[in-house]
Amino acid sequence: MDERQLENLAVSLKTPSFVFDTDILKARAAHVAEKVKPAKLCFAIKANPFLLQAMDTEVERYEVCSPGEFHICVKNGVKMEKIVLSGVNKEYEDVRYAMEQGVQHFTAESQQQFYLVNRCAEELDKQVQILLRVTSGNQFGMSEADVTELIQRRAEYSHLTIRGLQYFTGTQKKQIKKIVGEVAYIEDFIQKLEEKEGFVSQELEFGPGLGVPYFTKDDFEEDEKLLDAFTEIFKEERPYEVIFEMGRFLTASCGYYLTKIMDQKINDAVNVCIVDGGINHVNYYGQNMAMKTPILSYFPQHELEEKETEWTVYGSLCTVSDILLKKLVLKDARVGDYLVFHNIGAYSVTEGIYLFLSRKMPAIYLYSEEKGAELVRDQLETWILNMER
Ligand SMILES: Cc1ncc(COP(=O)(O)O)c(C=O)c1O
Repeated sequence: MDERQLENLAVSLKTPSFVFDTDILKARAAHVAEKVKPAKLCFAIKANPFLLQAMDTEVERYEVCSPGEFHICVKNGVKMEKIVLSGVNKEYEDVRYAMEQGVQHFTAESQQQFYLVNRCAEELDKQVQILLRVTSGNQFGMSEADVTELIQRRAEYSHLTIRGLQYFTGTQKKQIKKIVGEVAYIEDFIQKLEEKEGFVSQELEFGPGLGVPYFTKDDFEEDEKLLDAFTEIFKEERPYEVIFEMGRFLTASCGYYLTKIMDQKINDAVNVCIVDGGINHVNYYGQNMAMKTPILSYFPQHELEEKETEWTVYGSLCTVSDILLKKLVLKDARVGDYLVFHNIGAYSVTEGIYLFLSRKMPAIYLYSEEKGAELVRDQLETWILNMER
């Protein structure tokens, strides 16, 4: 959408709020899906579960990492065969429930999880597919030794088909070299398993953690270059199906965060601007105490005087770390004007520290050229969660 449409939304919708532009999202996901072919896309829904439906035509699979995320999929009518049930902590009731609902793909992040999925499959007499997640040295996934042992004993588990490996090491990667190294490592392991254990992988589910530009000093062309360099790694078709698990790279660019200037003052010679949002809602990876300036729009709601002022913009929390912007030069900014943060479609909606100070959670709108802005979640009071019931 253009700046005029964005201003109209800021003025007409509630603040603070998120607006996710599903036209931008669909175009972005279609572009990435086309580029990575014949590999397919898996949407890591933790990045933004409000985009599940808009994303549906472009992605083959949804990575679901908690019982809560699974309920969101059920409520949204997601096809169970599109789900891969993942997550570092899986409980019996949740795995069994998902399997009863028709989920066919699971990951195992430990040998115990493998046995758990097997137990549920046996109890329900279902045949399910499992991916073994390989660790990158943290709490996620299993060691090569554990993976190898399960593969050696695979014939004992007649209800499970081990489809292959899952590998994800972290997010917001800007260096293609790191990703090249990860691909080389995991594909080398796949080959070792074939040579030594006679195990032929049918699938690799790989999360590249591709980074996106967030701040004014970032190179915005880098984004496409990174995608080009990444697709180059997978230029040659593999003998197994390749699925890329992605969140941030697909969703960041479709999101806007609308906030309004509520107060202004000069404290110790610093021009202070208070907005009705804050760091409780805004989560740009790599941002700390407003050391960097994200891309934003300023929408004054009055005749402008020719005076520019440098502002420090704070949110509404009771903490000195609630700084959104430092040294931001605005022309004649006043109470009632709007600031709109761009590229906020990934993780801000799920990773915010929403309960602090019992402030309201932002409203959420989905926007498209055809339908305009649709309220999909109203502002939510949180005080009720911060008291005895
Ligand atoms: C297992 C797994 N896959 C994929 C992702 C998505 O990562 P990104 O948003 O960087 O694409 C995550 C994010 O935490 C993850 O944990």
